[in-house]
Formats: sequence, C-alpha cells, structure tokens
Amino acid sequence: MCGIIGYTGKNRAAPIVLQGLRKLEYRGYDSAGMASALNGALYFKKAAGKIDDIDKKYELGELPGNTAIAHTRWATHGGVTQENAHPHTDCKNSIAVVHNGIVDNYQELRSALIRKGHVFDSETDTEVIPHLIEEYLKEGNTFEQATRLASQKLEGSYAFIVISLDTPGRILAIRKDNPLVIGIGRHGTFAASDTLSLQECESVVFPDDGELAILRSDGVDFLDIEGEQIEKESSTLDMNNYQYDKGSYEYFMLKEIMEEPQAIRAATIQDEQIFTRLAMDILRARQVVITACGTSRYAALVGRYLFSDVAKKFCDVVMASEFEYFSKSIDGSTLVIAVSQSGETADVIEGIKRAKANGAQIVSIVNRYGSVLSRMSDDVLYLGCGPEVAVAATKSMVSQMAIFYLLAYAMRNEFKIAANNLRHLADELERTLKGNGKGIVRLAEAFKDIEDFYYVARGMNSPIASEAALKLKEISYIHAEGLPAGELKHGTLALIDDGTPVVVLCPNDNTFSDTISNGIEAKARGAYIIGVSDIEHELFDFWIKIPHVDGFLYPLISVAPLHLLAYYLALKRGTDPDKPRNLAKSVTVK
Ligand code: G6P
Repeated sequence: MCGIIGYTGKNRAAPIVLQGLRKLEYRGYDSAGMASALNGALYFKKAAGKIDDIDKKYELGELPGNTAIAHTRWATHGGVTQENAHPHTDCKNSIAVVHNGIVDNYQELRSALIRKGHVFDSETDTEVIPHLIEEYLKEGNTFEQATRLASQKLEGSYAFIVISLDTPGRILAIRKDNPLVIGIGRHGTFAASDTLSLQECESVVFPDDGELAILRSDGVDFLDIEGEQIEKESSTLDMNNYQYDKGSYEYFMLKEIMEEPQAIRAATIQDEQIFTRLAMDILRARQVVITACGTSRYAALVGRYLFSDVAKKFCDVVMASEFEYFSKSIDGSTLVIAVSQSGETADVIEGIKRAKANGAQIVSIVNRYGSVLSRMSDDVLYLGCGPEVAVAATKSMVSQMAIFYLLAYAMRNEFKIAANNLRHLADELERTLKGNGKGIVRLAEAFKDIEDFYYVARGMNSPIASEAALKLKEISYIHAEGLPAGELKHGTLALIDDGTPVVVLCPNDNTFSDTISNGIEAKARGAYIIGVSDIEHELFDFWIKIPHVDGFLYPLISVAPLHLLAYYLALKRGTDPDKPRNLAKSVTVK
C-alpha cells in the first residue's frame, strides 16, 4: 500500500513529482524517496519519515532533471529504514524502481540473483526488480523487453515505475493487480498510483494487467503482455472533481466528517434506471453476498439489515479477507456486492476475482473512479463523495449506507421516496453536527485518559457501535469494542467497572427498550452511560442528541457524532487523526 509516481516532460520533474507524492501520502507514510535523471546521471534522495520532514532535510524537490520517480512507503518487507526506502537500484545504480505491492517469490529470485553476483542493499522484496531488469539487459534485451520480462518473473501483486540511465527522458510503468494510472498532460506524462496525484492532465489511461506503458515527454505507448504495441482508450479527467485541500480545517478528518451531509446528497444523484435494474437482479439472485473490509464492511452490515427490513431480501456479509474460504459456494446464481471506498483493497479484489471465476454477477459500490475494482465489476455504483484523504473512513461510510438505502427501496420500487428521505436527512445531519460539537469536545476532555471504551446497539444500529469502536482504536489508540447490546451479558459485561464509558446507541425505534435494558445492566456495574438517541432517558449520564428520523435512517445520522467523538479524543491525546500509526488508507496487500 505504497504510493508511486513518475513524471517526464518539459518542466523540471522533482517539484511536480513531490507535489503528487504529497497527495499519495495517505497510502503510507513510513518513508519516502525520489530518483531523477539528468545528463547521463541518476540522482537519489530517500529516508525514513514523513514526506515533509524528509523534504525539509534532503530537499527532494531540488533534484535535477525533467524525469523523476518517487515513492511513499508503508513497510511490508523490511523495517522502516533509509536502506529499505524506495527507489531501489541495480548493481550499477543505473536503473531505479519504485514499487507498490508484494513480490511473493522475492526470496527465491533474490537468491538466484545473488548466485549470479548481484549485490543487494536492502531487505525489501522490491529490490529484486531492478536487478532482474539489469540481468535481462545483460542478455541483450532492450529496456522495454527487460522490464516486461522481469515483471513476468514476479509472483504476487505489483505496480512499478522504472527509469534507466540508458534511455533518458523515458519512464516505464507496469502493473498486476495493483493500481496504476497513466496521465497525459500539456507539458509531460505521468504514471501514478491514483488520479488524485496527477496534475494538469487532460486524459488518463488505465493499463490492464501485464501491459507496459512507455512514457515520453510528448506521449505514451503501450505494449501488451506479448510485447505488441496496442492502442488504449483514454478518458478525460475533470480536475474540478479532485479538490484536495483542508480548507479552513486543521485536519482532513474533521473536514470529511463535516462533509457527511453533502456526501449523502451526492449519493442520491444516481441513475434510477440502473438502481431499479440492479434491485431486480438482487431480488432474483439465488443468493446475495456482500464483501468488504474495515469501515466499508460496517456499512455493508447496515445494508444487510436494510435489505432484510425494507425489501425482505436476506443476504450475507463476508469479510473480504475471509471470502476465499466461502468461495466454493459462490456460483453463477450468486450476486456479489463489493463495497470499497478506494476500490483497490487487495482482499476485496482477491475475493471478486474468485467470485468472477465462479460466474457470479459483480456489483461494486466504489468512490474512486477508474479503480481496479470498478474495472472488474459488471456494474459500478459510485459514491461521488469526493476524495477522502484521512486514513480513517468517515464520509464514504455514510455514502455507502445511503447507496444501500437507495438499493433497498429500489427493490420496493420506491427509489424516488428514498432519495427524497435522504435529502431531508442530510439537512438534519448538518444540524446534528453543529449542535453536538461543543458537548463532544467536553466529553473527549473528560475521557481522554481512559483506556477502554464500549459501544452497544441493536439491530441495524449495531454495526454503528462496531464502526464507532473501530474509529476510536484507529486514531486515538484507545482500546474499544462495539457489539450488539444483547451480547454484553455473554462476556463483555465482566469488563465493566466503575466509570467505564459505555456508549448506548438507542434511537427511538424498535430497538429502544431492549437496548436501554442492556444499558441498565451495564450501569448497575458502574458504567458511565453516554446515550445516543432522539429521546432522553434517565439512564444517560451524557446525552448525544440526534433528531427523530425515519427508522431506517438512524445509522446514517448516529454515526456522525461518534466520528466526532473519536476525532476529538485523538486530538486530546495528541495523536494525528489523519495519519494514524501503522495504518494506511489503501490496503493493497493481502
Ligand atoms: C483501510 C482503511 C479503512 C478502510 C479499509 C477499507 O483499513 O484504513 O479506513 O475502511 O481500509 O478500505 P476500502 O477502500 O476498501 O473501503
């Protein structure tokens, strides 16, 4: 889950690549580096740390030349050290590679290369790539042939970008299972992990697995897996859709939470016909399986309740990393819904590959246009909530739940009613976010030193309890658990002690009285009860007030104040909510 970018063109490359690299930092921020080429020499700078710190110390943007590649790392193979940071090179320092992915057979390749006399400087799997290219060049292959042949030796997943001293002004890029986009701009060409990092590009091309992109300052050629030149379709890139700044907010996460109402409105701008057709497919399918990871999975779990409650359609949600263990029961009469903000989570992609191979119909719910997942799916429903930059997902989850709500109502032929309900909800949510801010800051202050937090709810609110706990763990490093309230008495209650905060999500719906009863059981053991509801109750020590809305919409409104709570707890504890330790936004490794 690293970020890679390369540029070759008429302008000086380092500042352009550095600007793009900053936008890729959500993909990993352990270390970063850059290589550039000028007048027969390669220049390198790399180090452990975040991009801005490295740039301050080593002036990445000062590297010379009009061709450069760069990398931001999330360590998989080898610790976080300068040696393991990318770019990696061959023995003569004449080939430089940046890579996102995992080379599964790197040990075997490395041993074979060492036997041939290659010397390695790092512990990474990536370093085999420049050495393999070097080896194929020695055999008399061209740079393009050598790169293609090297890529074919790699098992696992990859997207890598490479430059060589022998072919000045040229960048090669190739992928398998990991994202790669080629951008064509007025003054040069780009290869990168995502479209967000591209600047001033008029069109983009998404290479398929095994296709090699050959970038020159004035254009790009593509070779297929056999090395034959091919024409690729390009699409235009509307840079206005790629606003990427914090505005007046201190952190992206707060900005994105405050954008949740807008995310709901954007999610309603959909093609009713497509929703109706897919709703019919869902109803007709012998079985429907939803797959996702992390926060997207919690949105999927809410979707599962919506399908059942609104449309009487039972389905299952399988965690994407566990999907392969169920894949034998996926067949041509199965409809699989893949939910992923990024559209590039490796576990989701892997599951969908298996489902496709078994003949299942694939529908994906994705935010990122042109992502790997969207290109693998029979149909794609886009969230349209704009780029989400903070590592912890917030607004995209609310969007995903809105899409499930629309799909569930489309199964009842009531798409328009649903879209209308969502638009009203967006206004209510705006008021909720404004109304709760100060109280939540006070709550965060009171609990900033606590080490355990519990969240309980019932029915379709219970995935929100899990999501709230996940958010807290991710960004404030407080241990938290979210569970269906009825399960509390089957174990977790043993952990409740004097003053333990227990968030009880109990909107005034069919779950209210049972959830209150479970809250009372916790309070009897000394718990401090934070109620999230549209009606007050004597049980609550602190009340997070949400408005009264359509019963099926409570998850979409109650999650927002809990995102805020996690955010303010992170701030009070002095952690960076946008870049939590050990995590990355796009998890492109299994
Ligand atoms: C990572 C992120 C989470 C996200 C999950 C799934 O773990 O840190 O915030 O929910 O990936 O990502 P996806 O892009 O598939 O929704």
